[in-house]
Amino acid sequence: GDNVLYLAHKHGIDLEGACEASLACSTCHVYVNAEYYDKLPQPEEREDDMLDMAPMLQENSRLGCQII
Ligand code: FES
Repeated sequence: GDNVLYLAHKHGIDLEGACEASLACSTCHVYVNAEYYDKLPQPEEREDDMLDMAPMLQENSRLGCQII
């Protein structure tokens, strides 16, 4: 699907996605611009759990494969 991970790859951006969007890793961790972050639906609990394991977690952190 057209999630941010997919779009990044389509545009030649080097973003990892080790588990291929099955919410079993945090390698697709991205920072979302504040302006855009507020427009996204809240992360689901499973995404939050994975994000907790991401290095360099910030308030605007999301998992790229979960942003549609
Ligand atoms: Fe693994 Fe996004 S690619 S959680």
